[in-house]
Amino acid sequence: KNKIAIAIDGPAAAGKSTVSKQVAKELSFIYIDTGAMYRALTFKALKNQISLEDEEELATVLADTTIEIVHGKGQQHVLIDGDDVTEDIRTVHVTNNVSYVAKHPKVRREMVKRQQDLAEKRGVVMDGRDIGTHVIPDAEVKIFLKASVEERAKRRYEEMLQKGFSADLEKMKKEIEQRDQIDSEREAAPLIKANDAIELDTTNLSIDEVTDAILKEANRVI
Ligand code: C5P
Repeated sequence: KNKIAIAIDGPAAAGKSTVSKQVAKELSFIYIDTGAMYRALTFKALKNQISLEDEEELATVLADTTIEIVHGKGQQHVLIDGDDVTEDIRTVHVTNNVSYVAKHPKVRREMVKRQQDLAEKRGVVMDGRDIGTHVIPDAEVKIFLKASVEERAKRRYEEMLQKGFSADLEKMKKEIEQRDQIDSEREAAPLIKANDAIELDTTNLSIDEVTDAILKEANRVI
């Protein structure tokens, strides 16, 4: 079997990570969640009270920070400088601030370099915003996942309720829209579909249907 790279991009809460994990599992590939890397830096910056506008300082901090994504027992763990921050990087506070960190070109340059190292040996499913356009522009399969903002907010909302948290659907919708707007309008590697990416609207598709559609594309080139 050919080891290829599968790039999965799209707006917030479009189901990228769920589907990417499944695709990776089916193909025995490694799943790399690039959003987790930006979240990790955001968490550290917030914790150390670094201004999220200070590109130089953020880049300096990042240069001295190890971010590891380790896989075990079917779960992904994210470590910053050896500390497990898997849960900490998913808080609303980090989620609503990460786009301000991710817009800085110097931050992106270093993240992209690390991500390219991880993808070098292929056999990867990588999800994010700029994977097909900047991180792995020569990925064998490129997918752009989208869904209506109502549907994406609803999915996140139900996920929160399932975890036993309370949530405000309208507020979540606004936060998702805000994050998409910052990610799409930034100068450096904005969220955009690569010319050669296959667009999948998942609004009315199940997780399995989306997974199957991506596997079908992958199996054409594997
Ligand atoms: O994928 P996730 O929602 O965890 O990503 C969090 C944030 O990280 C995004 O909203 C975006 O600002 C940033 N990001 C990025 N480029 C990537 C992955 C994530 O700018 N490749």
